[in-house]
Amino acid sequence: MSKNTLHVKSCEKIQGELRIPGDKSISHRAVILSSLSCGKSTISNFLMSADCLNTLNAFRQMGISIQQVGNAEFVVNGKGLNGLSKPSAPLDMGNSGTGMRLVAGVLASQNFDSIVVGDESLSTRPMKRITVPLSVMGAHIETRNGNYPPLDIKGRQLAPITYELPIASAQVKSAILLAALNTSGTTTVIEPVQSRDHTERMLAFFGADIQRRDTSISVMGKKELTARDVVVPGDISSAAFFLVAAAAKPGASLLLKDVGLNPTRHGILELLKRMGSNIEVREYLLNENELSEPRGDILITGGQLHGITIQGADIPIVIDELPILAVAGALADGVTVIKDAKELRVKESDRIAAMALNLRAIGCEIEEFDDGMKIYGKIPFHGAKIDSFGDHRIAMAMSIAGLFLHDGTLIINNTKNIDTSFPDYETYLTTICS
Ligand code: S3P
Repeated sequence: MSKNTLHVKSCEKIQGELRIPGDKSISHRAVILSSLSCGKSTISNFLMSADCLNTLNAFRQMGISIQQVGNAEFVVNGKGLNGLSKPSAPLDMGNSGTGMRLVAGVLASQNFDSIVVGDESLSTRPMKRITVPLSVMGAHIETRNGNYPPLDIKGRQLAPITYELPIASAQVKSAILLAALNTSGTTTVIEPVQSRDHTERMLAFFGADIQRRDTSISVMGKKELTARDVVVPGDISSAAFFLVAAAAKPGASLLLKDVGLNPTRHGILELLKRMGSNIEVREYLLNENELSEPRGDILITGGQLHGITIQGADIPIVIDELPILAVAGALADGVTVIKDAKELRVKESDRIAAMALNLRAIGCEIEEFDDGMKIYGKIPFHGAKIDSFGDHRIAMAMSIAGLFLHDGTLIINNTKNIDTSFPDYETYLTTICS
């Protein structure tokens, strides 16, 4: 369990080897698809975080038997596309936008009604982005003030649609594709820019009838899925905190083992290279029977980073890494600009406002825009007392800034939400810092 306050001091050296916990996005999807498939699947290296465990419990509440057989290993006895049963209580997705939006896609096309709730932060996050396309399919979902959780879902038979996403969002894309699984006919989703494609890869792995052409994805519904064994790679979004810490510390050397390298997720590696960082990647060979999610080892050595501009098509593939990239920008020489990232305002917190406030609190000079920020680099960091706004990625990003303090201690309050994505984070941090 993470503490609710983190105290971080500057560290001299960063070195070592880490095996990062399983990928959050892939863990959610593994539970969902194995529950909807026919037969026994295993999931290994599942992310044992609050968010993913909430998704797992939601399927248990709907009658799926899921047994823990190892540290982060589960056996799921899937019952097919129509094998879920009506939950007797609301499904609580905690802090997770991904959990709520993906599960809503599944529930909209079931033959029972359900209620999906979330914590205080999730209850303020927009749901219209999924209820609009799902309603076009014929779904009936009521929300608070027409946009916010809880979701009151009246399950029913849906109709296929072709839908152009107004924003690049893997969660919205996935909600529609999951609803399409139990809907007769072909549903097509067209993305403005490609977002993470874990759902598409895993649907193909479980035997769904799925076609992909450029940024268009079609699913032909009502085909039963086949149980599979999923090995979840390490989460590159969690690795990102240590990558930045090592990249910015001269003399550092860090090896991260078995990290997911999906091209729709590995933007952090490209951007750190653009900032001047030295990164070597050794990708593993995957066999045909494995989930097609590239994975491998990353060796990173430290040096001086340089400011860059992050914008346009960069954004969807580093959407969760922007808080830590803002810290990288503050440690780089020159100026770093983040643009076209308005989506950050509706994440677990308003991540633009939270990072601008926190970086200023430790001495940085930041200009805030509606869709990003400008960071003047290399201004010395000073100790301060800050708040994570209950957002795990703000807490972890700022803890990395703390390793570079010029003086004092960084006290970060409200850090227990780190458990939603990275249980044991503090242990990992102390392992590589001396
Ligand atoms: C996720 C998609 C992204 C990301 C989130 C996880 C997913 O959100 O920010 O942490 O697993 O599909 P959007 O779909 O809103 O971009």
